Amino acid sequence: MTMRIQPSILSADFVNFERDFATISHADGIHVDVMDGHFVPNLTFGQGMVKRMQEITSLPLDVHLMIEDADRWAPKYAELGVFSVTVHFEACSDPVSISKNIRSHGSRVGISIKPNTPVSAIEPLLEHFDQVLVMSVEPGFGGQSFIEDSTLKIAQVRQALDSKGLSAWIQVDGGIDLTTITSAAKAGADTFVAGSSVFGVTDRNEMIDQLRNVAENSVR
Ligand code: DX5
Ligand code: ZN
Repeated sequence: MTMRIQPSILSADFVNFERDFATISHADGIHVDVMDGHFVPNLTFGQGMVKRMQEITSLPLDVHLMIEDADRWAPKYAELGVFSVTVHFEACSDPVSISKNIRSHGSRVGISIKPNTPVSAIEPLLEHFDQVLVMSVEPGFGGQSFIEDSTLKIAQVRQALDSKGLSAWIQVDGGIDLTTITSAAKAGADTFVAGSSVFGVTDRNEMIDQLRNVAENSVR
């Protein structure tokens, strides 16, 4: 099974993205956390920065929008031509319209749920999404511990997708390291966001390779 590792640049050096991007060339994509200080109690960057990021890397950008009023803002990120745009179920009023709009720009579209949002909330929407992001920490900050119950939610999403014959990716974000990635992979995740565990080591490409190997070996 193909396992994807996407380092989260929330743990990178915000004034040295170009230098830090060069250290994660083995990644399958770069996870870009956009936060507005309202949906989450933290603030990062917006479209201008994401546009520049597109220009300094050839890796696919996976944009995770932790912002209110996703209906209004999500299309603007897709217009930049990023690889994927993920919105939070809790932050949008018409997820199906958002999906259509994002796909019309050629980007993949994801739907995310916070730790306290049940999988049942998004089950009827799955056919409209290319990726389901199960948050395994409360969104907002890097370096938090993986919430073990997230594996149950990942398994529920896996079962729901399989029973509907859908092939959306299952992404997990928060507290992923060489230990927690095993249970997330066994539960059915195939796309792993890792911030502090990648950017906290000297040889980031070596860590990316190890994470991918551990994930792939967990399901053999
Ligand atoms: C948290 C962000 C994550 C964060 C993960 O709200 O969505 O992408 O960077 O960081 P780690 O891997 O350190 O938990
Ligand atoms: Zn994220």
